[in-house]
Amino acid sequence: MAGKQPATAIEARGISKVFGSGQNETRALDDVSMQIRPNEFFTLLGPSGCGKTTLLRMVAGFEVPNSGAVFLGDEDITGTPPNRRPVNTVFQNHALFPHLSVARNVAFGLEMLGKPRKEISDTVARMLALVRMEQFANQATNQISKSQKLRVALARALAPRPEALLLDEPLIALDHKLRKEMQLELKRLQAETGIAFVFATQDQQEALTMSDRIAVMNAGHMIQIGSPEDIYSRPSGRFVASFIGESNFFEGTVQSVKGDVADIRMPSGHIVTARLGAAKPEGSVTFAVRPEHVRLEQFGVAGTMPAKVTQAVYSGTDTHCHLELDGGERLVARLQNAASGGPAYDKGMRAGVRFDEGAAHVLAD
Ligand SMILES: Nc1ncnc2c1ncn2[C@@H]1O[C@H](COP(=O)(O)OP(=O)(O)O)[C@@H](O)[C@H]1O
Ligand SMILES: [Mg+2]
Repeated sequence: MAGKQPATAIEARGISKVFGSGQNETRALDDVSMQIRPNEFFTLLGPSGCGKTTLLRMVAGFEVPNSGAVFLGDEDITGTPPNRRPVNTVFQNHALFPHLSVARNVAFGLEMLGKPRKEISDTVARMLALVRMEQFANQATNQISKSQKLRVALARALAPRPEALLLDEPLIALDHKLRKEMQLELKRLQAETGIAFVFATQDQQEALTMSDRIAVMNAGHMIQIGSPEDIYSRPSGRFVASFIGESNFFEGTVQSVKGDVADIRMPSGHIVTARLGAAKPEGSVTFAVRPEHVRLEQFGVAGTMPAKVTQAVYSGTDTHCHLELDGGERLVARLQNAASGGPAYDKGMRAGVRFDEGAAHVLAD
């Protein structure tokens, strides 16, 4: 196979899916496209109900689109039944067979494929080693912990060596510490197997730390696809900028344009230089600035915007400083706390506000 691998492992092309009809109609997916590369950790990120599960089920073959197509490499598999697709799914509830041992659960898919016994036992041993469950091979799966169940579900799904592994919010039932641990495990498994992982989550922090690329979805639409850095630093619009991390939004009017940056006049009269990206370089625009890129200086320092602190919320590593500019605009600054402790600013104080260079970013929608 080496050298012949297509550039795209899985592609969804213009997928639409409507459930129900008339008053009960739900448009679960609306003209959704994505291209997943081989050996990539690809994450579908979006709020509950945005269409992640429907899209995964479409790729797995459990759901048929109203329009659009699913490709595996160059092959159109839209009409191929699930058991004929080289794709496996790990579900939220892991769906293990409770009465079977760990090893029998992992062997199950291989037995269905009619593999020889020796090959099955070798693969099961390798898979249990991969997910670090060798010593539990003969345990019943109703006698192991939640995260161990997930490990078994991963071993079972990876055993037939699928082209892609689909993971539908598999970490949702784990508590914070185990969740962090399993995030690292999933990253490791993806890297060690070289199989494309398509991972659905509502957790933006999880998506940022785990993914090669993230596809942000909302209300059945694909909003933006890019690297974590793209998505965080160059959000295409208001939805991405507020769903992923926090953002301050400002209205303004474009005054002048030079290359990829524009001078924008805020209603208070301040001029801010902002990156344009894909945004139209004229008229009224919205631009965003992350709270960690807002700096506070002493009131009256040249080049700063005069402001008042309306609230200071201490949160350990940093303080969220809520501010109101003299022109009326409201914003939040995230200030790292000094080693000596407490916040340097408090409610009622005056300050000068400045944005880091390159931090202001005009939104395209
Ligand atoms: N079988 C179904 N019948 C009717 N509506 C459905 C069905 N499956 C999903 N939906 C609807 O489609 C939308 C997308 O759902 P889903 O794909 O489960 O979103 P997510 O996984 O992102 O939470 C939701 O509005 C959901 O209620
Ligand atoms: Mg879902």
